[in-house]
Amino acid sequence: MGTLEGTRVLLGVSGGIAAYKAADLVRRLRDAGAEVRVVMTAGARQFVTPATFQALSGHPVRSDLWDPAAEAAMGHIELARWAEIVLVAPASANTLARLAHGLADDLLSTLCLATSAPLMVAPAMNQQMWAHPATQANVATLGARGVVLLGPDSGGQACGEFGAGRLVEPPAIVERLAALRAPGVLAGRVVVVSAGPTFEDVDPVRFIGNRSSGRMGFAIAAAAAAAGAEVRLVAGPVHLPTPARVARRDVRSAREMHAAVLAAVAGADAYVGAAAVADFRPAVAAPDKIKKTDGAPAPTLLLERTEDILAAVAALPARPFCVGFAAETGDVEAYARGKLQRKRVDLVCANRVGAPGEGFDADDNALLVLGPDGFRLDLGRAPKAVLATRLVELIAQRLPAPRAAGARA
Ligand code: PMT
Repeated sequence: MGTLEGTRVLLGVSGGIAAYKAADLVRRLRDAGAEVRVVMTAGARQFVTPATFQALSGHPVRSDLWDPAAEAAMGHIELARWAEIVLVAPASANTLARLAHGLADDLLSTLCLATSAPLMVAPAMNQQMWAHPATQANVATLGARGVVLLGPDSGGQACGEFGAGRLVEPPAIVERLAALRAPGVLAGRVVVVSAGPTFEDVDPVRFIGNRSSGRMGFAIAAAAAAAGAEVRLVAGPVHLPTPARVARRDVRSAREMHAAVLAAVAGADAYVGAAAVADFRPAVAAPDKIKKTDGAPAPTLLLERTEDILAAVAALPARPFCVGFAAETGDVEAYARGKLQRKRVDLVCANRVGAPGEGFDADDNALLVLGPDGFRLDLGRAPKAVLATRLVELIAQRLPAPRAAGARA
């Protein structure tokens, strides 16, 4: 019996030289037991003929949203419902952009919007196109929505260049698909994630905040949900869509986040504090806008410490597995080890902030994960969605066995 026995896979093939590898992919998916239906974009048809995919999949290939005969056989909504997994391989830069922006002007993009099945994309393109900030932003958007990103691989390219942008080989794609179908590594677990900044009001129009966009925390929430966890996301003021299968609670201040996280961690297996919680707030928020009066001195703000949410969760009698973040501008490892001990958490993810292109409000991050007893794992620099998946796998490996019901906080 194949590892994908009976799984209904909708394979979207988009334009690019790697489209020829999708033919091998169909054969391997079928060898693994999957039932495959293929949808091609207009670009893909420039590289491979539909007849190839029809012969290999055993089903007519669709590419036109407006084909009355094909719609009469299986309408596009029916096809979207039929799929248990939607896999786009190869996913061109254009297709990634269209998916990220929710376009629905051809059959494949429409199906991706209309389906409730998990979406997996395997990009393939020229290395400059992959590295372009627009493509990276699109990938980050898709990752934050829970889309599973597979690759790309690095190496020599058909265009003669060398770098990241090669389609992951079909056997590895089939393996990842099978892993996605297997019960997730966090199935049955409850994970609470905090994300984004907190805003501490000075008066009704001003506040103290920070540059956190929430992207790191949202990517972790998406990755944990994709791994089968029940995810409770406590989000500061950010402008991000809620990842699929994630329960979200929006808050504004450290005080509100503290209350929401403590409520959410009841019965949880893990808490991941990716939020950039303000350390200080105005001791008193002025009820009316503070006026500037000619000749009068500028006002002085008296600050007080905010609640330390991570330390509070770690101090609970039946605490969840606690993962903190450490945002540092220098001496990252030493400061992060200090936080690991002081806050008594199980893992700390240290990230350097202030460098261009990574950390706060960027698509990429660079994480160094530290644990007690000298545990040290450098996950390097990568898109936040990729780091989130690796972090979730690490958490799953280190999570203690589930506690008996009733024994939780
Ligand atoms: O949101 P992005 O734009 O994607 O950026 C991601 C990020 C850089 C914000 C993220 O990766 C990150 O580092 N988050 C933690 C930022 C931070 O506040 O670090 P810290 O070193 O000040 O705090 C250490 C830990 O204590 C964090 O887990 C924090 O959530 C927690 N903390 C801090 C203060 C406080 N009052 N309560 C807390 O729980």
